[in-house]
Amino acid sequence: MVDDATLIQAARAARERAFAPYSKFKVGAALETDDGVVITGCNVENSTYGLTVCAERVAVLKAVSEGYRAFRRIAVVADTQAPTPPCGPCRQILWEFCGDIEVILANLTQEKGRYRLTDLLPLPFDARLLG
Ligand code: THU
Repeated sequence: MVDDATLIQAARAARERAFAPYSKFKVGAALETDDGVVITGCNVENSTYGLTVCAERVAVLKAVSEGYRAFRRIAVVADTQAPTPPCGPCRQILWEFCGDIEVILANLTQEKGRYRLTDLLPLPFDARLLG
């Protein structure tokens, strides 16, 4: 298990690698697997705008594609005073692969909030509903 500061610092470092020339809003994410491995992501924008991928989704998809399937928490970092929570689609993707993980929100200097995913996505759609 990595400590909070290490996870948040990994998200800050990932944020530096964001490709955000259109919004100029850089985001970093760091996802901790059940066995303490940290997989990072940053937002990757596109000139079509609509094909932009958020930092959280990049982290989850990288992790899944590397074979990880169990996760403990995710840290999300942006350079804002108010916390930057995952968008709706990212909450759904997080639910699919991570279940009710802890979501830690931080900026460049401070932690700004801590939530369970079920608090951010109270009535999720998932495979159980497919019957
Ligand atoms: N963004 C993220 O990467 N994660 C969030 O939690 C919120 C939004 C990105 C998408 C886009 O590149 C930029 O921030 C502005 O919306």
